[in-house]
Amino acid sequence: QETAAPAEDNTLVMYTNAEFPPFEYFEGEKIVGVDVDIANEIAKDMGKELVVKHIDFSSIIPAVLNDKADFGAAGMTITAERQEQVDFSISYVESIQHIISKNDAEILDMEGLKGKKIGVQLGTTGDLAISDAVNLPEGELYNSGAEVKTYKNALEASQDLLAGRVDAVVIDKLPAEEIVNGNEGLKSVVFGDISEAYGICVKKGNEELLNSINSTLQRLLDEGKIAEFIENHSK
Ligand code: ARG
Repeated sequence: QETAAPAEDNTLVMYTNAEFPPFEYFEGEKIVGVDVDIANEIAKDMGKELVVKHIDFSSIIPAVLNDKADFGAAGMTITAERQEQVDFSISYVESIQHIISKNDAEILDMEGLKGKKIGVQLGTTGDLAISDAVNLPEGELYNSGAEVKTYKNALEASQDLLAGRVDAVVIDKLPAEEIVNGNEGLKSVVFGDISEAYGICVKKGNEELLNSINSTLQRLLDEGKIAEFIENHSK
């Protein structure tokens, strides 16, 4: 006589912060973007059903650590600090920080940020770079009168830029370009020369899931699909 197998959890839960186009953003109630397209492929390859949840960027790694999320995918830069907490996949996109400002502002590089009010998204690599430059004696903006304003929501920072409440926003290249293309009167310039690589994060030691994620990512990279996803979600 056959006994029924216990019902297996067939869902794959991704946590993200959907305020970062083209990687993740709301289209009505729905979260879409490059990372969602990638995650759908991962789920498909694993025969699982994808569930995508939106939270603050700085809560994504904690959610992975608490087993609320199977993985975090949020245009997240692989950094040494984060690698102490989670494991990352192979990198799937290269990026660099950009500075967005109004067209008429004379902000062309880090130098131009002296004495300015700078908006960043809390806990991002842009936040860390700018906060260090403003608050640490060895920072380029130290003692220049520059101020950092942190936002939970990166898109709110760009609204404040348009409203003149901050002079600049520091954010990753492609989201910067989306914000500039979606609003009149803004420009974006490269900030610094530190290139960043995006990875998907899982709980440390979750090798089985990490292997599946890596093989799907490698396939998508080989097929040129990630470039296609970026193209599809860019303005
Ligand atoms: N790449 C940057 C970082 O890792 C910013 C990522 C922000 N992502 C987001 N979905 N809001 O810190």
